Amino acid sequence: MNRISVVTGAAGGMGRAIVERLIADGSHVIGLDIDAAGLADMKGDGFEGICVDLTSAAAISDAFAKIKETHGGIDALVNNAGTCFMSEFPDIPEAEFEKQMALNFSGAFHCCQAAIKLMAGRDGVRKIVNISSNGAYNFDAFDPPHYRASKAALDTLTKDLARRYATDKIAVNSIAPAMTETPLFGVVSQEVLDKAIAQMPHGRAMQPSEIAAWVGFLISPAGDISSGNVIILNQGRDVR
Ligand SMILES: NC(=O)c1ccc[n+]([C@@H]2O[C@H](COP(=O)([O-])OP(=O)(O)OC[C@H]3O[C@@H](n4cnc5c(N)ncnc54)[C@H](O)[C@@H]3O)[C@@H](O)[C@H]2O)c1
Repeated sequence: MNRISVVTGAAGGMGRAIVERLIADGSHVIGLDIDAAGLADMKGDGFEGICVDLTSAAAISDAFAKIKETHGGIDALVNNAGTCFMSEFPDIPEAEFEKQMALNFSGAFHCCQAAIKLMAGRDGVRKIVNISSNGAYNFDAFDPPHYRASKAALDTLTKDLARRYATDKIAVNSIAPAMTETPLFGVVSQEVLDKAIAQMPHGRAMQPSEIAAWVGFLISPAGDISSGNVIILNQGRDVR
């Protein structure tokens, strides 16, 4: 039987690559995204989309209820949906702060709550992979404080759930990438982008498929023995 995997932010740059990787590895993938047209565009063997606003706990609950009804349970969850708002610290509007935390952290929190219930009784080691960011650890790059804090909170959730569910055989890890070429690059000017890419040791941004390969590895049986780790992917940029 195919493993059932849920990927949030499935219609984005990283999300599409993760969906492709997991389908190639034998998962049936359910993509959650607010972008209905993007999800429709991805229709194909091994994929189904559910349009959902991940800033709403009620909408998340409805989406997972639908998944339970159709598939009975799930084996893997990838919390990938996220964005980066760029206002300067003293002037970050309250609504922007709330939305940053709601999408990058609270949405993932509620998806974990729903997913863990649907993982009960499934075979093998079940997996949660949270897509964090180097921004939580590297303070040289441009990332704003609310973005950094949302990802740091996500990584603490990773460690808590890893510990809490270790003996239930639910493995929880974060992957924290640096500059990866996706539509999210559009949040900064070309000048800021060029400077950040120039700091990458290989002289180039990473590709979504390179990050997706690590997600696939964690979800594969080879990943069964890793839990509670934050895996930093940045070509070795921050080694001192
Ligand atoms: N691109 C990078 O350099 C980079 C680096 C580090 C971490 N990340 C992280 O990778 C993840 C994926 O980002 P990406 O680069 O693919 O960006 P992206 O903008 O291409 O994709 C984000 C996806 O999230 C969806 N989304 C946004 N708001 C939503 C909502 N309210 N409900 C449901 N879906 C919503 C969008 O529709 C989009 O499909 C994010 O968590 C981001 O923080 C990206």
